[in-house]
Amino acid sequence: MRIVLLGAPGSGKGTQAALLVEELGLPHISTGDLLRSAVADGTPLGLQAKAVMDRGELVSDDIMLGLIEERLEQDDASGGFILDGYPRNLAQAEALSDLLQRLEKPVDLAVQVVVDSEMVVARIALRATEEGRSDDTEAVVRNRLRVYAEQTAPVAGYYQQLGLLSSVLGDGTIEEVFQRVMGVIRSHSPD
Ligand code: AP5
Repeated sequence: MRIVLLGAPGSGKGTQAALLVEELGLPHISTGDLLRSAVADGTPLGLQAKAVMDRGELVSDDIMLGLIEERLEQDDASGGFILDGYPRNLAQAEALSDLLQRLEKPVDLAVQVVVDSEMVVARIALRATEEGRSDDTEAVVRNRLRVYAEQTAPVAGYYQQLGLLSSVLGDGTIEEVFQRVMGVIRSHSPD
């Protein structure tokens, strides 16, 4: 199954994706993780992306398309995937549809995790004390939320129009959210 996870920063996409990997045996493809790994390796892409990420802005669509194309063409993605962090604007959503049409592997389901902004600011503040991600300061988180509202939120409408969108509430425990996510996945799985 090819699943796109949508949701604001801190909504729990990465957390839920990790649980889905165990449950469904599909690879978790996170563009945030791919970028952080490029930053850690000091690659030219990583050097270019770091400043943008540290401001909470979006890395350019061209760079992101190259990155996601290379990743989706790897063998482990041939049987399905859980995509987290891409697409993040309408241009990326259209580019992804074109790419997956070419690969004859269209998105089956987009799951949007819906959360309250103040809840994610609190969650990410907690993570900042544990992990020290450089874009987890309160000012940058608020900018990430602004960028999300302006550029990423419309992506849900894109999948809604295609009849592929399901939304779940992202509050409650991690397990409660997981059961909601699995509920919509089961209802879209072929028998
Ligand atoms: P990315 O890594 O994708 O960050 P994000 O979307 O801001 O998401 P987060 O990782 O902060 O949150 P999440 O929803 O995964 O939540 P998580 O499970 O971690 O992107 C980072 C940057 O890279 C972007 O700002 C941009 O610059 C760049 N980028 C990435 N993709 C791009 C693209 N396509 N185009 C352009 N630029 C791109 O949970 C958050 C915390 O809450 C954790 O501590 C977790 O333990 C906790 N938590 C989760 N669920 C619960 C729960 N139910 N109850 C309590 N705590 C919970």
